[in-house]
Amino acid sequence: MKKLVVLTGAGMSAESGLRTFREMGGLWEEHDVYEVASPAGWHKDRSLVLRFYNERRKQLLKTLPNKGHLGLVELEKEYEVWIVTQNVDDLHERAGSGRILHLHGELRKSRSTIDPKLVYDIEGWKLEEGDLCEKGSQLRPHVVWFGEAVPAIKEAARIVSFADIFVIIGTSMNVYPAAGLISYVPGTTPIYVIDPNMVSVAGHSGIQHIQKSAGEGVQLLRKEISHE
Ligand code: APR
Repeated sequence: MKKLVVLTGAGMSAESGLRTFREMGGLWEEHDVYEVASPAGWHKDRSLVLRFYNERRKQLLKTLPNKGHLGLVELEKEYEVWIVTQNVDDLHERAGSGRILHLHGELRKSRSTIDPKLVYDIEGWKLEEGDLCEKGSQLRPHVVWFGEAVPAIKEAARIVSFADIFVIIGTSMNVYPAAGLISYVPGTTPIYVIDPNMVSVAGHSGIQHIQKSAGEGVQLLRKEISHE
C-alpha cells in the first residue's frame, strides 16, 4: 500500500468548533496566551495554567470529529495513512485513524514534572494542584509549551521522509519545527495543501492547493487520489 502522510493543524478541528490560540487574539480572559502556555507561566502561577487547560479540555469533550477527520479514516481503505498532527485534541483518534503522531502533545493526558516518561490519561476534564505522579511530583498538562523542545520531531521527520503523497491540512506553516518538516518530503512526492487561505510552502513547486475547508477539501482530495 502507498503511504499517505498528512500534516494537520488547528484548521483541521475548526469545523468541530475548537478555537485556536490565534483566533483568541492572543488573549485568554485577561491573560496573554503565552503566559498560560509556557514554562515561565507554569513557574509563576500553576493554578492559572491548570485552569486554562482544564477549560480547553472541557470544551474538547463537547466536540466531535468533523467530515475532514472522518474522510482521512476512509482513505485507510486504499492508503497506509500516517497523521502527524500539531493539534492537542484527540479528534483524529475518536474519528478512528490508526497511525497518529502528536507533535505538540495531548490535551487529555498529564505528565510528571520530574520524569517525562510518566504520562497518564486524564479522567474527565480536570487536572488540579495536588494531582501527583507515582513518584510524588505535581502533574502538568502533556503539551509542548512555547519555548519547549518538540521531542516527537525526529519521528515525524522519519514518517514524512517515506511519504508517497504528502497532504497539509489547516496549518499556517508558521510554527517551527513543524513547518520545517516540508524539507523531508521526497522531491518526487506530490503535495496537496487543504486550507481556505493561501499557505506558502517554500522550496517546492507543483503543490496542488485545494482552497477549501478541511471537511470539503478532504472529500475533494479523495476524489482526486482514490482509485475506486
Ligand atoms: N479548514 C481548514 N483550514 C482552516 C479552516 C478550516 N475550516 N479554518 C481555518 N483554517 C486554516 C487557516 O487558514 C490557517 O492557515 O487553518 C490554519 C490555522 O493556522 P494556525 O492558527 O497558525 O494553526 P497551526 O498552524 O496549527 O499552529 C501551529 O501554533 O498555536 C500554536 O502550538 C500551537 O499547534 C499550534 C501551532
